[in-house]
Amino acid sequence: MKHLLTIEQLSAAEINEVLTLSRTVKAGRGKPTKNLPLTGKTWGLIFTKASTRTRVSFEVGIRELGGWPLYLSSNDIQLGRGETVADTARVLSRYLHGVIIRTFAQQDVEEFAEYGTIPVINALTDDEHPCQILADLFTIEEKLGSLKGKRITFVGDGDCNVARSWIFAAAKMNMPLTIAAPHGYQPRPALLERAGGDIRVTDDINAAAKDADVLYTDVWVSMGKESESPDRLRVLAPYQLNASVASAAKPNVLIMHCLPAYRGKEISAELLDAKQQDIFDQAENRLHAQKAILMLLAR
Ligand code: CP
Ligand code: NVA
Repeated sequence: MKHLLTIEQLSAAEINEVLTLSRTVKAGRGKPTKNLPLTGKTWGLIFTKASTRTRVSFEVGIRELGGWPLYLSSNDIQLGRGETVADTARVLSRYLHGVIIRTFAQQDVEEFAEYGTIPVINALTDDEHPCQILADLFTIEEKLGSLKGKRITFVGDGDCNVARSWIFAAAKMNMPLTIAAPHGYQPRPALLERAGGDIRVTDDINAAAKDADVLYTDVWVSMGKESESPDRLRVLAPYQLNASVASAAKPNVLIMHCLPAYRGKEISAELLDAKQQDIFDQAENRLHAQKAILMLLAR
């Protein structure tokens, strides 16, 4: 693995490599170690969008691996004033040992990887959120065992970055995935075709939840979509993940949310509070999985 730009570009073997190493990393956290693969290395974090989990878990993870994180808000660097991504990549490659980018256009992350000479990690774009989904796969394996055949149902904005990364991950890991979303918020047919696998799309949330091993949701208004907020809140209102939807799934269904959560919108407050142990374990696993990703890219 040279970069982590999308789940789409990863092989099942590469995904499994991340999951295996994540287990070791999690088990070893806090124990004395001489294995500090980022010693003497500085990784930049260029963020154009807000972040709690991704930013903090990467900064902590880089430090725990012996390196230094350098947070670069795009407002503070010349990129925000029109310097090109290609020139920024050429320059930062002379200083940094790797870069983690959260932004709007997937193209910008791809371009950084093309013109720079250091590993690039996509920390969320409008198209994909690969770090999230790798951590989620790790969480599912940890809680439910082997991924193969586990039935995932994603409820809500089926065309958002998290849903898209899920589509590619499910196809690669042989997990049947159902997306329950209203028309206008369903994944494009061309994307489903590209992904292959056993992916179904429906507007019937209760039918979609039936026999699910995992029920997953994400915010209804992703970063950058704020102007569409009134329409989204209205159209997506019937797609709330709550106890009634969960009752259609398997009895021990795993409830997952990438967070941040808006209680009473995409997930009911009651369900989130009842399942908070799992949901915050899921958030914690971002740290372990991202340390594994950093170790694989720093090799
Ligand atoms: N789930 C996630 O990526 O959270 P942040 O936006 O807080 O990083
Ligand atoms: N789909 C959400 C994910 C947040 C982690 C967004 O892009 O805002």
